[in-house]
Amino acid sequence: MSNPMNPHIKRLRKLKTEARLGGGEERIRKQKAKGKLTAHERINLLLDEGSFRELDAFVHRGESQLMGDGVVTGYGTIDQRLVYVFSQDFTVFGGSLGLGHASKVVKLQDLAVKNGAPVIGLNDSGGARIQEGVTSLAGYADIFLRNVLSSGVIPQISAILGPCAGGAVYSPAITDFIVMTKKTSYMFVTGPEVVKSVTHEEVTSEELGGAGTHNETSGVAHFAAESEEHALYLVRQLLSFIPSNNLEEPPRRECEDDPLRTEESLDTLIPDNPNKPYDMREIIHLVVDQGEFFEVHEHYAQNILIGFARLNGRSIGIVANQPQVLAGVLDINAAVKAARFVRFCDCFNIPVVTLVDVPGFLPGVGQEHNGIIKHGAKLLYAFAEATVPKITIITRKAYGGAYDVMSSKHIRGDINLAWPSSEIAVMGPEGAINVLKRKELAAAADPEAMRTELVDEYRATHANPYVAASYGYIDDVIEPSQSRPRLINALEMLQNKRDENPPKKHGNIPL
Ligand code: HXC
Repeated sequence: MSNPMNPHIKRLRKLKTEARLGGGEERIRKQKAKGKLTAHERINLLLDEGSFRELDAFVHRGESQLMGDGVVTGYGTIDQRLVYVFSQDFTVFGGSLGLGHASKVVKLQDLAVKNGAPVIGLNDSGGARIQEGVTSLAGYADIFLRNVLSSGVIPQISAILGPCAGGAVYSPAITDFIVMTKKTSYMFVTGPEVVKSVTHEEVTSEELGGAGTHNETSGVAHFAAESEEHALYLVRQLLSFIPSNNLEEPPRRECEDDPLRTEESLDTLIPDNPNKPYDMREIIHLVVDQGEFFEVHEHYAQNILIGFARLNGRSIGIVANQPQVLAGVLDINAAVKAARFVRFCDCFNIPVVTLVDVPGFLPGVGQEHNGIIKHGAKLLYAFAEATVPKITIITRKAYGGAYDVMSSKHIRGDINLAWPSSEIAVMGPEGAINVLKRKELAAAADPEAMRTELVDEYRATHANPYVAASYGYIDDVIEPSQSRPRLINALEMLQNKRDENPPKKHGNIPL
């Protein structure tokens, strides 16, 4: 026979059940009808089973008599590693943020920094809680401040799983990565109604700030997920490459792929015609452990590739020009995309492997007027200031300023390798001949024949890796098939690398 239940325990259980229901059965039903999960369901999908411990379930403030105050917060594990999570509950006042809600998130952010573990935010909110007025603005600012102070100390990851509008967008914007679900999420500073009244543009929420827009056009989001399950899976995957804080090394995996594996197909991958594109992703897949490349910003500025992979079980960040898109040229979006990624890797002790095939910076009035000078400089700055191990392989073109920028020896590349197909020069052979031999070409009986001859001669004498290697700017010219063992060997040689920048408050990256 069971004991009659202690009344205190009975009350506790009743309160917990109530808190768990958030805004109630009817609003949960509405949430599901929109194709969305509840705050608790999301946490359960994200974390290791049974690991979640909730904090502040009894918090409620102001107008809200609903416990939890529109956000579920706590900690648990992902792959047995500690993480902190907040999950906004749209069933409580539309997940809107008042003081109670904000104080819960802030408590979590403070705990995370003290204990050196990531914060993952699951966002689904109508923004500032209108009834609470200015205190909700204060609550947002309290969160923003902590986002900034913990940037570069602990990883911060945002999943946008519903609305995220107004100033509320700025917390995710400061975090390291943003995942958005297709169709059910959107982010904008001002919504379609305001846009219409101010600029007379007619636009839907999806067009203005859906996952497609932010992954392809604005670059605000890094991943577009097919579903909430997929979004949470991406967060778990992402964390597997990243240490829990800036004082730790990234987690190392058992490697089932032979570190000495050579890949003969790389020897014939570069087309004979230097103007013919190829897919840089193929090289990445052939070189890294098990061909696994976790691409970041896949849909944005596709002329450059960034993402995580492993070499002999060690986490690396990859930055690679993509000759298949715009010939792999560096433009504003590509420079900004890669610069932020390099800085992330440098914050969190993740070595950077750079694969170079770049014809230069993109010419054009649009690029110049929009500031390719300052934006291109961001990438130069990011590579130059990074003190993590930096290994570079030039596969084909490395021309002009872009050669310097792409993790060259001159900006502290640790090991700089080149394939024999490399063309390292101030500019491409055609451009060089046009400048150097303009008069001769104008006077020639058959200028085209002469141009071809001069271009071939220039390519043979200048556009190869051996001139750069003769100065020691390239440490070695390697057979492409050897790339994986050489990269792994370099990474191991550099595993205790120590390098520091001069003491300063902080640098002044050209923003
Ligand atoms: C209080 C809110 C709320 C808010 C939604 N709700 N947003 N309560 N403050 N900001 C409540 C609704 O009253 C409703 O309550 C419930 O949440 C669900 O909202 P619905 O409108 O029924 O849902 P839906 O049709 O899906 O529309 C979602 C929405 C819409 C697009 C987010 O609710 C909306 O436009 N809300 C207002 C958004 C907004 O203007 N926020 C302030 C932005 S300014 P019941 O009881 O009916 O279930 C801002 C500044 C931040 O955020 C500054 C930071 C520095």
